[in-house]
Amino acid sequence: MERKKILINKANPILFGHNAYKQLNNLIIQKSYSKILIFSDFETTKYCLPVLESKIKSTIELTETHNYSINSGEINKNLDSAKIIWQFLIEKGFKRNSLIINLGGGMITDLGGFIASAYMRGVDFVNIPTSLLGMVDASIGGKTGIDLKNIKNIIGSFYFPEITVIDTHYLDTLPIKQFKCGLSEIIKHSLIEGKNDWNRLKVLKNIKELNEDIIYTSIKTKVRIVEQDPKEKNIRKFLNFGHTIGHAIESFLLNTDREVLHGEAVAAGIIMESYLSRSICNFDEKKVNEIKNFIDNHFDKIIIKSEEIHEIIKIMSFDKKNKDDTPKFVLMRKIGMIEIDKNVSEKDIVKAIEFYSY
Ligand SMILES: NC(=O)c1ccc[n+]([C@@H]2O[C@H](COP(=O)([O-])OP(=O)(O)OC[C@H]3O[C@@H](n4cnc5c(N)ncnc54)[C@H](O)[C@@H]3O)[C@@H](O)[C@H]2O)c1
Repeated sequence: MERKKILINKANPILFGHNAYKQLNNLIIQKSYSKILIFSDFETTKYCLPVLESKIKSTIELTETHNYSINSGEINKNLDSAKIIWQFLIEKGFKRNSLIINLGGGMITDLGGFIASAYMRGVDFVNIPTSLLGMVDASIGGKTGIDLKNIKNIIGSFYFPEITVIDTHYLDTLPIKQFKCGLSEIIKHSLIEGKNDWNRLKVLKNIKELNEDIIYTSIKTKVRIVEQDPKEKNIRKFLNFGHTIGHAIESFLLNTDREVLHGEAVAAGIIMESYLSRSICNFDEKKVNEIKNFIDNHFDKIIIKSEEIHEIIKIMSFDKKNKDDTPKFVLMRKIGMIEIDKNVSEKDIVKAIEFYSY
């Protein structure tokens, strides 16, 4: 595993395990940073910071290093949090030759990356994702951002970390519900990549069997796609598979007392959009059932009442990725053969939601 390294944009390496910390130490020494900020939330401060400190202790002892922790949760991925950190950086005299180390899930890497991209027109940062979703998705690909006026990621930038450190030991303390959020993105990546990845994943009986090799492969898929289409003009849209309906379900349930996490809604969306792939692109019915069985085995079923279906479809028409009011779907012809911008009738969407539900 130490040999594994993925390069993004011919620089910005994503590094694994012990070698990753070695490179992080080297980076800090070579760049002679004047100050370092380790940015985390209270959870990752408690569970992950002691590990990180033990890995870079002797290096950061030589540099003025601060830790700033904020409350966890998407609700804090906002301008207020960014402002508090920028003020802290100013008060502590952080100059351009500073480093921000983001230690946390996607909330922290998105927010910390954004803070780094704008402070003094850009300072170096390092991502150390501690959630599964952060490792395979959020920390990869250079998108940073914050939410504003209830719109997710509406303010942001493309800005790449110096390095990204993948240490799967952090996952030992990640709550199982959060772990599943990452699993749904791994399922998506495997279906995009091809049958080898999916065949390896679908036999997992217990998701805790999910190993570093699967995480490595999943990251490679995201990197391959991002590199070919960084600004989401064509194939980066593949990554929206499962998200058109998934996102609408997530938004709909936000206004109810039924809590659902993003990744849980995406897992449901993957079943529904696999069903639509059957109707629209002739995707193999056996595979649809295989995907449904796997997801049903690992995720709780989200209850969708029949009278709610039309509300969910209405939300899809407002998706910010649509060109007009018609939702465009990403569907599969085969595993590994993805098609974008597909039109789907309302009748078919209803059938897909019913297929998932019953
Ligand atoms: N930039 C991108 O390309 C991209 C892609 C996908 C998602 N995202 C963003 O990622 C965010 C979601 O990321 P997330 O699912 O990691 O959520 P998160 O960062 O909110 O983390 C989820 C919870 O897990 C806790 N946690 C994280 N690591 C832990 C650990 N090792 N042990 C114990 N607890 C731990 C966190 O404190 C938090 O309470 C969203 O804001 C989303 O918009 C960004």
